[in-house]
Amino acid sequence: MEKKNIDWSNLGFGYVDTDKRFVSNYKNGAWDEGALVSDPNVVINECAGVLQYAQTCFEGMKAYTTEDGHIVTFRPDLNAQRMEESCKRLEMPVYPQDKFVEAVIKTVEANAAYVPPYGTGATLYIRPYMFGSSAVIGVKPAQEYQFRVFTTPVGPYFKGGVKPLTIRVSDIDRAAPNGTGHIKAGLNYAMSLYNIVDAHNQGFDENMYLDAATKTYVEETGGANFIFVTKDGKVVTPKSGTILPSITRRSLLTVAKDYLGLEVEERRIHKDELKDFAECGLCGTAAVISPVGKIVDHGTEICLPSGMTEMGPVTKKLYDTLTGIQMGRLEAPKGWIHVIQ
Ligand code: PLP
Ligand code: COI
Repeated sequence: MEKKNIDWSNLGFGYVDTDKRFVSNYKNGAWDEGALVSDPNVVINECAGVLQYAQTCFEGMKAYTTEDGHIVTFRPDLNAQRMEESCKRLEMPVYPQDKFVEAVIKTVEANAAYVPPYGTGATLYIRPYMFGSSAVIGVKPAQEYQFRVFTTPVGPYFKGGVKPLTIRVSDIDRAAPNGTGHIKAGLNYAMSLYNIVDAHNQGFDENMYLDAATKTYVEETGGANFIFVTKDGKVVTPKSGTILPSITRRSLLTVAKDYLGLEVEERRIHKDELKDFAECGLCGTAAVISPVGKIVDHGTEICLPSGMTEMGPVTKKLYDTLTGIQMGRLEAPKGWIHVIQ
């Protein structure tokens, strides 16, 4: 299979049309078999549940080319599980988890020419998603749904690659207690757009959200969880029922413990602790681990000792080990790597 003529090493995090996408429709209480199609456009009724009441959720995952030339994906079963949680919370029909993984594999296989070659720094981003496609005008769930998977080759999520970021403590909340912060609902991202545009306009790369109830505990950013490293080398991540349970973060805790022999803690993190950490990073499928160099809390600058030029040493080890596992340079824990081709 010949790869597409793409400047892989200079890709940003953007949409590139690829050859095929998977589509399955839910009607009369059942999903159809689904198929790969060529048309990237979606035609739905003007009154579709997704258009009127934002009834939609999604997942984000990646396919990698390993050092020995295989195409693999990382823990797709966990994305399938999380999408099930999202669907249930949004009164959407669950797309069966085994079928979800099958659809992802089929879509990646059909777009193998777009999976960036090993060593380019790029990956194939995979976006499974679902939306209410039939008309609803009263506030209620749609009767019909579409599940789709598309792919797009991507480079780093943040401009500048691994240059440490400057973030600000946000006044706007991301997720209410007992709300939808723990699922991947499109509405969580729509409501964050005002705040991310404002952050960029003020010279910040991202927003650090605090818990909405007390405004004291660190939650996450608009698209990634936090990891912190203490001055004595412990890896600490926020525990909260209102953040997205990041697959990257959960994997990093295992990597820290089992590969690097580090102590790990998942607990509430008070914002007053921020000044005591040695390193900070944003972790997620898109973000991988993006180091944070500075956190600005209403005029007070918290400068991480790891500085503004490179990743801190522990963050770097976590990054190298995680990407080493994903790219096949290091042996993965059982079940983490799903070989596609
Ligand atoms: N938090 C939010 C709000 C996200 O959108 C994402 C991206 O999926 C993450 C965290 C990271 O999750 P994961 O590591 O599963 O990609
Ligand atoms: C991901 O990391 O896959 C996400 O969905 C986050 C999004 C902000 C791109």
